[in-house]
Amino acid sequence: MTDAVKIIATGSFLPEKTLTNDQIAEFVDTSHQWIVDRTGIHSRHLVSEGETVKDISIKAAKDVLKNAGLKASDIDAVFIATCAPNSGFPSVASHVQTELGIRGPGMDIAAACGGFIYTAFTAERWMTHQKWNKVLVVGAETLSSYINWENRGTCVLFGDGAGAVILERQSGDPKQSRGFIDFHIGGSGIDKELLYGDNENGAEMNGREVFKHAVREMQNSCDTLLSRNHYKTEDIDFVVAHQANQRIIDAIGKQMKLPEDKMISTIATHANTSAASIPLALHASNQKGLFKNGDLIVTAAFGAGFTWGGALLRW
Ligand code: UT7
Repeated sequence: MTDAVKIIATGSFLPEKTLTNDQIAEFVDTSHQWIVDRTGIHSRHLVSEGETVKDISIKAAKDVLKNAGLKASDIDAVFIATCAPNSGFPSVASHVQTELGIRGPGMDIAAACGGFIYTAFTAERWMTHQKWNKVLVVGAETLSSYINWENRGTCVLFGDGAGAVILERQSGDPKQSRGFIDFHIGGSGIDKELLYGDNENGAEMNGREVFKHAVREMQNSCDTLLSRNHYKTEDIDFVVAHQANQRIIDAIGKQMKLPEDKMISTIATHANTSAASIPLALHASNQKGLFKNGDLIVTAAFGAGFTWGGALLRW
C-alpha cells in the first residue's frame, strides 16, 4: 500500500494593520483605480514596527494546531517557506518550535513566491521517507520590509501574512481518496535580474516580463500535472494559483476554459504575500466551506529566481 499525504487543517495570521490603495496614493503617484484595474488589489495587511516573520509564523502555527485539534507533541517536523527570515540563525522554524514546544527536525526554505509548493513537496517526500505522521508547514512573509515605498511600480503589489497547513500521512491511494497526487517543480536562475529585492534597496521588477513568465509557467505546471495523471480540465474543482495579479489568475482560467468560480482569488484584500499566498488562499476557501472532501484541486506558483511549480491533490 502506498502512502497518501493530505492536508487535514489550515490556519492563518494576517497582521492587524492594513493599507488601502487610497492611502498609498497619498505618498506615491498612483490611484485606487489604477491598482484595481492592473492588479485586482484593494488593500493589504502589513506588519507593525517590531512585528517579524517569526511572530506571524508562530501565530499561524498556533491557529492551525487549534483548527486541527492537535497538540505540539503530535507534530513530527516543521517546515517554513519564507524569503524574509528575521535573523540569520536559528531558522524561523526553530523559533516556531521553541514557542510551541515542538520537538523534531525543522527548517526554512527560501524559494520566493514559489516557496509554498517547494516546501510542501519537500515535506511530503520527507514524510513518506521518514514515515512521519504529521508535519506543520507554514508560508510566511513580511515583504513590506523589502519595499521601497517611493517605487510605485512595486510598492502597491505586496502584503504581509502567514498561512499554515497540517499534513498527515496515511496508507492509501490519493487518486481514490484524499492527498497529494503529484507535484511539478521547476526553476531557472537565468532570469533572476527580472525580479529581485533586499532590505536596503527594496524590490525591483520588470513587471511585463515577469507577468508573461508567470502565466506561462503556472499554466504549464497545471497542464503537466493534469496530463501526466490522466485528468482533463473538466475534472478540476478548483485552481489555487499564486496571488500575484488578478489578471494572471484570469489568464490561466481563460486558457484552461474554467469558470471564474473555480479560480480561487484572495488578492483583493491580501495582495501578493509571496510564499504565504497559497496557504492563505487555501485557508480562506476552507473557512468559507468551499472545498469538499475528494475535490480535485490544482495549485500553481511562480516567483523570483525564477521558481515555479504546482501540486495536484484530492482535498
Ligand atoms: O509574485 C511574483 C510574480 N510577480 C508577478 O507575477 C507580477 C507580474 N507583473 C504584474 O503584475 C504587472 O506587470 C504589474 C502590476 C506589476 C504592472 O502592470 P502592467 O500592466 O504590466 O503595467 P506596466 O508596468 O506596463 O506600466 C504601465 C504604465 C507605465 O506608464 P507608461 O510608461 O505607460 O506611461 C507605468 O509607469 O503604468 C505606470 N505605472 C503606474 N501608474 C500608476 C506603473 N505602476 C503604476 C502605479 N500607478 N502604481
